[in-house]
Amino acid sequence: MKIAIAGGTGQAGAQAALAAGERGHEVIVLARSEGIDLVSGSGAAAALDGVDAVIDASGVRPGDDPVAFHEAVVRSLAGAKPPRIVVLSIVNCDRAGDYPLYRGKLAQERAVEGSGVPFTIARTTQFHEFAAQVWRRGARGPLHFSPRMRTRPVAVREVGARLVDLAEAAPVGRAADLGGPCEESLVEMVRGYARASGAGRLVIPINLGGAFGRAQRDGSLLPEPDALRGTETFAEWLVRVAAAAGRRGAGGEDRGRSDEPR
Ligand SMILES: NC(=O)c1ccc[n+]([C@@H]2O[C@H](COP(=O)([O-])OP(=O)(O)OC[C@H]3O[C@@H](n4cnc5c(N)ncnc54)[C@H](OP(=O)(O)O)[C@@H]3O)[C@@H](O)[C@H]2O)c1
Repeated sequence: MKIAIAGGTGQAGAQAALAAGERGHEVIVLARSEGIDLVSGSGAAAALDGVDAVIDASGVRPGDDPVAFHEAVVRSLAGAKPPRIVVLSIVNCDRAGDYPLYRGKLAQERAVEGSGVPFTIARTTQFHEFAAQVWRRGARGPLHFSPRMRTRPVAVREVGARLVDLAEAAPVGRAADLGGPCEESLVEMVRGYARASGAGRLVIPINLGGAFGRAQRDGSLLPEPDALRGTETFAEWLVRVAAAAGRRGAGGEDRGRSDEPR
């Protein structure tokens, strides 16, 4: 199959590209770094010519309006009338009040539902890599702040493989949710990441305000019991983080592999 991956250079999209390539599919990566801007639509039509399926694993950059971003991306993808689109969304993004990122994911889902193109919506929980993102984004001087959150994080490699499974299959509308094997505390995940990566700095728990903060803490964002369960635990992922940090520390000649956690 010829599979186009919007956001194919991102965390999830790159794993989907890897999985699709390993299965013998032809992979077209759609990203600005590949000369294709899915918000303006520039380069999209030519890149999407003749594809059998599209995976939308695109994500906002700081400063983007998430609703406008995802609506524009789906418009660019659906405008080429591919046989099907698989959209990567977030578990329970409709249970988080007015949080902009989650409003963007809902807008993406609504846009693909109304696009006239056969679709599959694949919701997953936070990736293990979310711990690294929170650690970086929560930095204030020497301190790192992490929201309190109950989550069941999943390995992004398994997310990439699932996106390809769904792109290979007939569209189903809403697919089963995917979460990881175990519930975790986000604060402890961030602390674990800081230790394993060698950063080892203090992580201070905070409560985010409003409906989103409550949903983070009260378990509303956890997947339902009937969701699919990934296999790699957060603890197993941390072992890979520590190994990668060790390799990078040993003289710096190992610059990291494409599937290496950071
Ligand atoms: N991170 C999580 O824990 C998590 C969990 C569940 C679902 N999700 C959702 O899954 C999606 C992917 O997440 P991620 O963490 O893999 O994202 P990411 O690493 O930030 O990657 C975003 C991708 O989108 C591309 N992109 C951004 N603006 C673009 C534009 N105007 N035109 C074309 N491509 C553009 C980027 O490439 P360029 O910058 O080169 O354009 C990049 O390939 C997001 O929508 C996110 O909300 C994330």
